[in-house]
Amino acid sequence: MADRPLTSLSPADTEAIAAEVAARLEPGDSVWLRGELGVGKTAFVRGAARALGVAQPVTSPTYTVGNRYVANGVSVAHLDLYRSSGITIEEWADLEPYFEDAIAFVEWPDAGAGLLPDPRVTVDIDHLQGDARLITLSCDDSGLLNALAAALARYRD
Ligand SMILES: Nc1ncnc2c1ncn2[C@@H]1O[C@H](COP(=O)(O)OP(=O)(O)OP(=O)(O)O)[C@@H](O)[C@H]1O
Ligand SMILES: [Mg+2]
Repeated sequence: MADRPLTSLSPADTEAIAAEVAARLEPGDSVWLRGELGVGKTAFVRGAARALGVAQPVTSPTYTVGNRYVANGVSVAHLDLYRSSGITIEEWADLEPYFEDAIAFVEWPDAGAGLLPDPRVTVDIDHLQGDARLITLSCDDSGLLNALAAALARYRD
């Protein structure tokens, strides 16, 4: 089920929205991020990772499929499956450790359909005019979705 879309007017807004999501996640949870190239998926992950205490720069994984950080004793993983056209079971063996006991964020998750663990939260980001973005959060847990809707009410019109 999806919340009514939120409006982000800047990268800072997107990071602040991500921080509210991150605050409600636990190791073992993953978040899927969908939206076209350059829409702000990595910006969202950056805000979430910051909120979880990651101090290192959070950039798109380029030479590897993912990055993994540890902050406050919690592992935070960031995967980008853009270059994968579809993950094979052999490739999944390399990806699986990123998810182990971590809060994991996955850009372009559709390449991993059927193999990735189910997401706790899905984030869809769409371009509006200029820097504005529409951010839709979906989650099967109505309690979590309601808590997020309440915390993020100021981003909804
Ligand atoms: N409201 C906004 N939210 C997020 N990013 C924004 C916003 N307005 C402008 N931007 C800019 O859009 C760009 C988003 O880049 P980002 O790398 O996060 O996109 P992405 O979706 O991860 O792209 P890719 O598909 O290539 O991984 C950044 O340059 C960021 O500064
Ligand atoms: Mg990205």
